[in-house]
Amino acid sequence: MADERTQVVIVGAGPAGMLLSHLLAADGVDSVVVETRSEEYVAARIRAGILEQSSVDLLTEVGLGDRLTRDADKHRGIYLQWPEERHHLDFVDLVGRAVYVYGQTEIQKDLIDARRAAGQVVHYEVTDTALHDIESDRPSVTFTDSEGRARTVVADAIVGCDGSFGPSRAAIPARESWDRTYPYSWFGILADVAPSTDELIYAWHPDGFALHSMRSESVSRFYLQVPNGTDPASWSDDQIWDALAARLGHGQNGWTLQPGQITDRSVLPMRSHVSTPMRHGRLFLAGDAAHIVPPTGAKGLNLAIADVALLAPALTALLKGDPRLADGYSETALRRVWRCTHFSWWMTTMLHTTEDPFDTQLQLSQLRWVTSSQHAAAGLAENYAGLPIGF
Ligand code: PHB
Repeated sequence: MADERTQVVIVGAGPAGMLLSHLLAADGVDSVVVETRSEEYVAARIRAGILEQSSVDLLTEVGLGDRLTRDADKHRGIYLQWPEERHHLDFVDLVGRAVYVYGQTEIQKDLIDARRAAGQVVHYEVTDTALHDIESDRPSVTFTDSEGRARTVVADAIVGCDGSFGPSRAAIPARESWDRTYPYSWFGILADVAPSTDELIYAWHPDGFALHSMRSESVSRFYLQVPNGTDPASWSDDQIWDALAARLGHGQNGWTLQPGQITDRSVLPMRSHVSTPMRHGRLFLAGDAAHIVPPTGAKGLNLAIADVALLAPALTALLKGDPRLADGYSETALRRVWRCTHFSWWMTTMLHTTEDPFDTQLQLSQLRWVTSSQHAAAGLAENYAGLPIGF
């Protein structure tokens, strides 16, 4: 017996799932969201904070732009560097588009607030989530709610926005997947200190890659390339600041790195993964449920936004009896997925040092090329600032 009936069940209340529920509601389509974590956990997750122009445009168009417009920091481009050299790539000059620094944590908060105000049903802290009858036009999701009650939600479609560990991806039969793991991880550091740079610095260094990013005027975000399996507690604060200073070029051409109180540290593995198709019957996948990119280039969130921007109108039309957009969803979404998969792999392999001296020479050659040729720089800029949603 069904205790709930809706049009779309969304598995996962991260940015993909919550934005999808918002876009569907704007089209008059009801949804129910189920999530294994608590609301506090989902709202506090620290992720990359770079939005492409098209992501900002979409969020603004659907009424999620108030705080974003006020607080997001517009960046014209990035710095790319290697020892003794720092170059600015100006995306606005190169391709006419900027990027925006606005943490995923902030987007998640905006989404939670907007959906709560609209009365969206979100079941947090559920267990035993299972998908049923995805080949029928009455698929359902069963789960145990936070009070221990067994529940069923019957819908017209299910969307898996439940990341790489959720049950949705595995529910697609005849799945094909592509993987690349990298022989290094990112050591992420959050510090209570004003950024020492106006725009992000991506640094190649013989000791390993480093990135200077930021969250606000008083909070900086840093990453260091470290070997896989590194224990974040094994580095002292001084070791972290020394490594950042060396790799980011403290003291070169008068640039200095300001250290501060470290408030969070974690080690993130890096991998690329694409799972196809992104649809089977009445089950659709969006965001990390279908693809993972390494963080270099900050594509993960933007890809999730692009997926749901395609999926919302496709589901709306499907529920009105027109299956054409839904039938094309997987193929259309995967074109952009593979573009971003290539771009993030390319940025990653250009910037992270390996043991192989041949790699080193190729990396430095590419860095010189993208910082000296307008055409090469424009290629990087076009991908980083983001291709149009329908690409
Ligand atoms: C971040 O601020 O967390 C960030 C920025 C740029 C990246 C990756 C992560 O490429």
